[in-house]
Amino acid sequence: MNKKENTQIKPHKYYGMRFSSGMDNLITQTAPKLILLVSIIIYFFIITIVMINIYNLEAGSLQNILNTISKFVFPAMGIIGFVMLIITFGVPNASTIYENFVKGELTNSVNEPPILLSKRKYKGTSAIEYTFYFNGVVKKVFEEKKDVLASSLNMEVVDIDYKLRGKHKKINKQQIVVTCVPSDGIPEKIYWNDKYLHPDRDIITLGVNWLGAVTVDLKKTPHMLIGGSSGCGKTVLCRSLIHQFVEHGDKVYIADFKGIDFFEEEEAGYEVITDETIFKNLIIDVLDTLDTRKEIFRQAHVRNLSQYNKKNPSNQLPRVVLFIDEAAEVLDATGLPKEQKLEIAEVTGLLSKAARKYRALGLTLCICTQRPSNDIISGQIKNNLDLRIAGKCDDVLSDIILDTTEASRQIPKNSVGLFFSNTNGLFRGLLLDEDVNEVNSHKKGNSHMGKIKSHA
Ligand SMILES: Nc1ncnc2c1ncn2[C@@H]1O[C@H](COP(=O)(O)OP(=O)(O)O)[C@@H](O)[C@H]1O
Ligand SMILES: [Mg+2]
Repeated sequence: MNKKENTQIKPHKYYGMRFSSGMDNLITQTAPKLILLVSIIIYFFIITIVMINIYNLEAGSLQNILNTISKFVFPAMGIIGFVMLIITFGVPNASTIYENFVKGELTNSVNEPPILLSKRKYKGTSAIEYTFYFNGVVKKVFEEKKDVLASSLNMEVVDIDYKLRGKHKKINKQQIVVTCVPSDGIPEKIYWNDKYLHPDRDIITLGVNWLGAVTVDLKKTPHMLIGGSSGCGKTVLCRSLIHQFVEHGDKVYIADFKGIDFFEEEEAGYEVITDETIFKNLIIDVLDTLDTRKEIFRQAHVRNLSQYNKKNPSNQLPRVVLFIDEAAEVLDATGLPKEQKLEIAEVTGLLSKAARKYRALGLTLCICTQRPSNDIISGQIKNNLDLRIAGKCDDVLSDIILDTTEASRQIPKNSVGLFFSNTNGLFRGLLLDEDVNEVNSHKKGNSHMGKIKSHA
């Protein structure tokens, strides 16, 4: 019986939902309040005039009849009118959107479009959330007709999803929530600002999208893979991340096999490794050091670094972060003599162990490479890099990095600094001082590195 109810929704049920969303908007927004206030004033003004006219009529049966009618009709008209008004507060433009969907064939098999139930603004952002009753139009059709959706709503569509919310549990499964942002996109350059530095040591800001800062929780996704074609902004992104780790007091190692991208960091005293043998030994040392934490955690009865640091606020242990930029330079064994191949296999083995076993002990791996195909980043390492970030790429490359072609579809071909992550979707990386100088082709000046303390 329940099932039947789920699939057969009577149109009047939409009004309930539209009314509740209208009430929400009435409570949270100023414009509907003003409109309602003006309507109430007009309503009482009209009633007063009519009542005066009735009162001025000659006493008799007509006056009695009009008096009786007005006692019922006016309140009824008032209630219906205000309810309708509140319903329109919930979904302004619902009928135009309906017509646009029909025109654009965003419809079910009998040419009926989804029904707009509510429109809500995300607090403090320019994003808007539209909730539709699916009306037989499944999510796949929404995805395919994304352009119709975008042009009908006159906004850019960021996300299409099912959402369980509110009192209407029975029909929630048939609701589709579309998150939109203004069509003018994310700004082309967004500069680093200290407000992006999260107070929680486990949280790092990747960049910014229409909703504001895009952050990741390292407790959930400690390791990351950044891929994308040359010049898409990987190194610049790494620098903004390195800056945050250092500010959080973490221990950062940078392996730069191009050897020319991290001068500022080197000058500031961070450990920048450009030699492959030193790199191998470094991983061994890092893992040895982290191994000693096992006993410390055991004695403290904690399971991971966050728990330990929470229990020991005055004696916190740093996260150990290993950045590897242009990882292919050190991990690609194609065409090399046997001896070197063995050496690379050893490094791959070490990284694989690091990625698998050391997350709870506080290791974060950040591996950057243009094309992280299996011959460069082994399946075992890749499976453990939970956070995947792709810059500008084609379908094949997007698939290699994210296991979907989403990045190639969402990142315009001529863009730099724009990334797509498996956890947060699209975002723009942040530019630090020296990157700004680089972008502006000015002489490098007052770098941020001078301002921050060295933890290396
Ligand atoms: N977030 C960004 N915003 C604006 N411009 C950027 C951004 N990231 C990178 N760029 C520009 O792109 C150039 C190349 O970036 P880089 O990080 O060196 O690319 P990759 O490491 O992927 O080859 C930078 O010098 C800068 O001019
Ligand atoms: Mg680079």
